[in-house]
Amino acid sequence: MGVVASAPAKVILFGEHFVVYGEPAVVLAIDRRAYAKVENRDDKRLYLRSVDLGLAGYFENGAFKIEQGDLREAIMRFEPVRLAVEKILEKRGKKEGLNIEINSTVPVAAGLGSSAAVVAAVTTAVGALLGVKVSKEDIFRITYESEKIVHGTPSGIDPTISTFGGALIFQMDTGFKALEVKTDVPLVIGNTGIERSTRFQVEKVREVRERYPQVADPIMRAAREIVLRAIEALKENDLKTLGELMNINHALLYAVGVSDESLEWLINAARTAGALGAKLTGAGGGGCMIALARNEKLAQVLESIQRAGGRPFAAKKTDEGAKVEGT
Ligand code: PMV
Repeated sequence: MGVVASAPAKVILFGEHFVVYGEPAVVLAIDRRAYAKVENRDDKRLYLRSVDLGLAGYFENGAFKIEQGDLREAIMRFEPVRLAVEKILEKRGKKEGLNIEINSTVPVAAGLGSSAAVVAAVTTAVGALLGVKVSKEDIFRITYESEKIVHGTPSGIDPTISTFGGALIFQMDTGFKALEVKTDVPLVIGNTGIERSTRFQVEKVREVRERYPQVADPIMRAAREIVLRAIEALKENDLKTLGELMNINHALLYAVGVSDESLEWLINAARTAGALGAKLTGAGGGGCMIALARNEKLAQVLESIQRAGGRPFAAKKTDEGAKVEGT
């Protein structure tokens, strides 16, 4: 018998980078999910397979044995999963062998929270298979702790949104608050295909802020005002305002140096094709951009991003966090 569970990816709709300095950010769970199928094994191995990444191998007595793909990559991707499984097994108080197969529709290393979605899905599936009661808070905590050890995620945005779904406001000093959103936020996400380092991008902004504090401070304040205005627009289903605010938000991110040529191409392509607004999402310097578009313009925006060299897909908000799909 096996259990399948899933968890969603995320986009930062507004406020990335400025959130590091205490300003609010708006985050959405999107309808792209990671799936984990978990089965019992007769031995004590933890066998892991990522279908999309072409990686497979198993942990046994603390050592990892590769069966398919690159060893370093496999350890990097599978270690948070192993840590999460260990935590569930600790709760159960008995060691078990498991087969875990991961299928994900979320691009990796693109700022969409793919790794948190995988860990949240695995945690949910393992808990259900072994009959261990795991609350949403447990899933969040286990995902957060497992991710932190490997990736050092200080804000916890990805584990939170993968666990709970929906839309959230996040601020460093007050944490997460669920946000009421009337619209399903029709987006086109354009992946530049360029992998980037969040740490490096955050460092860039810190340098700008240190060198030009009088210039950077008003930019931070403007970013806060954008988020406050956007929260109203999300409540009122006002897509036009949201699009305009996305454009302004992107200009601020450009100003602090975190856009790049690959993102600018895709953002311009989306706007030219009739998007209401477009911006980079997440750390920038590659990764993904997002465009807001009314349904009748979605196909044009998708095509235009594709022609500009991006890998586009349509996405919208989902309220479904980590959940069991079936047995
Ligand atoms: O790693 P990403 O692409 O999801 O973006 C991180 C968001 C930042 O605001 C740039 C950093 C952070 O820790 O909030």
